[in-house]
Amino acid sequence: MAEIRSDPQAAGEATEAQISVHWREEEYYYPSARFVGQANLTDPSVIERFSEKHFPECFREYADLLTWDQYWHTTLDTSDPPFWKWFVGGKINASYNCVDRHLAKYKNKAALIFVPEPEDEATVSVTYRELYVRVNEFAALLRDFCGLKSGDRVTIHMPMVPELPVTMLACARLGIIHSVVFGGFSGEACGMRAADSGSRVLITMDGYYRNGKMIDHKTGADIALETAKQAGQQVDKVLVWRRHAGKSATVSPFVKDRDAWVDEILPNYRGQIVPPVPMDAEAPLFLMYTSGSTGKPKGCQHRTGGYLSYVAGTSKYIEDIHPEDVYWCMADIGWITGHSYIVYGPLSLAATSVLYEGVPTFPDAGRVWRIAERLDVNIFHTSPTAIRMLRKSGHDEPSKYNYHFKHMTTVGEPIEPEVWRWYHDTVGKGEAAIVDTWWQTENGGFLCSTKPAIDPMKPGSAGPGVPGIYPIIIDENNEPIAAGSGKAGNICIRNPWPGIMQTIWGDRDRFVSQYYAKYCKDRNSKDWHDWPYFAADGAVLAADGYFRILGRVDDVINVAGHRLGTKEIESACLTVPEVAEAAVVPVVDEIKGRVPEVYIALQPGIQASPAIVEKVNKAIEAMIGKIARPRRILIVPDMPKTRSGKLMRRVLAALSNNMSTGDITTLANPDIVEKVRELVQGKNAVTLADGPEDLKTFGTQE
Ligand code: WT7
Repeated sequence: MAEIRSDPQAAGEATEAQISVHWREEEYYYPSARFVGQANLTDPSVIERFSEKHFPECFREYADLLTWDQYWHTTLDTSDPPFWKWFVGGKINASYNCVDRHLAKYKNKAALIFVPEPEDEATVSVTYRELYVRVNEFAALLRDFCGLKSGDRVTIHMPMVPELPVTMLACARLGIIHSVVFGGFSGEACGMRAADSGSRVLITMDGYYRNGKMIDHKTGADIALETAKQAGQQVDKVLVWRRHAGKSATVSPFVKDRDAWVDEILPNYRGQIVPPVPMDAEAPLFLMYTSGSTGKPKGCQHRTGGYLSYVAGTSKYIEDIHPEDVYWCMADIGWITGHSYIVYGPLSLAATSVLYEGVPTFPDAGRVWRIAERLDVNIFHTSPTAIRMLRKSGHDEPSKYNYHFKHMTTVGEPIEPEVWRWYHDTVGKGEAAIVDTWWQTENGGFLCSTKPAIDPMKPGSAGPGVPGIYPIIIDENNEPIAAGSGKAGNICIRNPWPGIMQTIWGDRDRFVSQYYAKYCKDRNSKDWHDWPYFAADGAVLAADGYFRILGRVDDVINVAGHRLGTKEIESACLTVPEVAEAAVVPVVDEIKGRVPEVYIALQPGIQASPAIVEKVNKAIEAMIGKIARPRRILIVPDMPKTRSGKLMRRVLAALSNNMSTGDITTLANPDIVEKVRELVQGKNAVTLADGPEDLKTFGTQE
């Protein structure tokens, strides 16, 4: 874990750009001849073809993987920086490209294989023909029952079931902009997003399995509607898919004329065919909300033509997907990884994409490998958190099962070299090529990764920019940092690419200020060279051109590969009336990479008590969801502050991570640091007898 601690965010040190990083260079691993022999991308001329000299026309190669209703006339339009337009003049439908066009050759092949969490429930294969029928029928329902049309937004709050991609593809068929909210987010979080996107319709499911239990999910919809209403958005229809025919998993009452079971109305649309609407290449395909440095999540707006081209291209060349592969990405469709690399990328290539409903270690540490063996999965895609968890709970389990991966992906957080090696040797059985893909919700698809049959792998490093992506590391003085200097800085992408989001939904200014303001030297320039994309990640660039990603440089905590804004968690804490101030910091965690730790100061006259800690915990769970549950909630007598009253989160982060706090003499209240240290580092921490499992201690007020 030594490397991870060099993240200044956790360490509470100065900016990335000032830090020199001294880790050991790892040795290269090479893909097997067998892998290379079958790979989609083996011609090294790709580097030249996608070099700056051929930009932006190089991306025609990706767009040409798709079927267009009308070919575009301008590959890249830079007239309104940084609002780039891709494949302008083109018309295309994403649903057609992921479904209809495969029927001639593959109608009888599985598009999706659904693996329910209960092991005694049979897997379900959905062929391309069956997917076609279901998408059409549901599209008819959206159009005729809900009155939805192209450009409308719909919020989808669903678990990992085949009905989720059916719903998304039905929206895409009509040009309805879907906004999928991760099923694990709370009803309130869903409602806030529904309000921001202006959705009139919410699509959900009654329940789903998680860790052996049936979760009542529809109750979240009731809360979501209430939250949306308070935020000024009336949601007037709730469509509820049913997890088990003939049963209901929810206690939530159905509101007349508002809530409807999908399976009760769908028969009215049996056999209906809805022609796919040819959409402008620049029409939004979906919104995906993500956390940033303010309390309000931002809706990343992704375009149809550019996005689909980019995920098709990277799925083919970086994921090495062929139609005959069985591809399993263990992410949730409620995150961007699932959108791009479970649904749109693989299905645009006519692959078979596996969907697993539940927890990877349920009922035991062998589950994932049993699924891989049974379905003969040959491409596997997951996160470092899942890999660490599987390694810890079943180090030798993979060897007990007869599966063979040709290709594996790691994504979402930095992976420690020793964890990478377990992935390679034990999960991949030394046979699989690995790609460590670095990218973000905003980006649509991969930015840095090795080309699996061309570049050697280096544990812990994502690799060079993927074809057509020109990354650079820039310091705080807007100077590039040279390869091999050992200095960390801010990773940026110099050029536009087709997968980049169009804007933040309803907030053009924030789009510019968040991603482009920092390094744009001339706001009037129409030349893309003047508009590097600022990713808010620290990174180092080795002499061989491989990027090693260190982690976020803003107020975002990457928990188990998922983004949480510290400000969002702090706002949730502040809804508890007894809380005067809240500060959230990231703490290094053996499995999840980082977890939030919460500091609160109480209103004058209020005594610290386990009841307050519990209230804060409940507030976080209700407003965001279980994934945001903090490691600890510590009640402190006061927060360390500068003389101007600024709360010093970095001092708290240092204390939480047992790191040096650095110079604190300039604080307004340096004495508080020692007091807080005693609370945090044990002496006065009190254990909650019956607190939730991952919330064991709280500090006492003096
Ligand atoms: C943040 C983006 C889109 C992928 C899923 C997460 C971190 C992502 C890597 C990687 C090190 C990584 C970055 C990034 N990250 N991939 N391969 N190595 N860090 O998407 O929720 O938008 O989070 O995840 O910090 O900024 P996201």
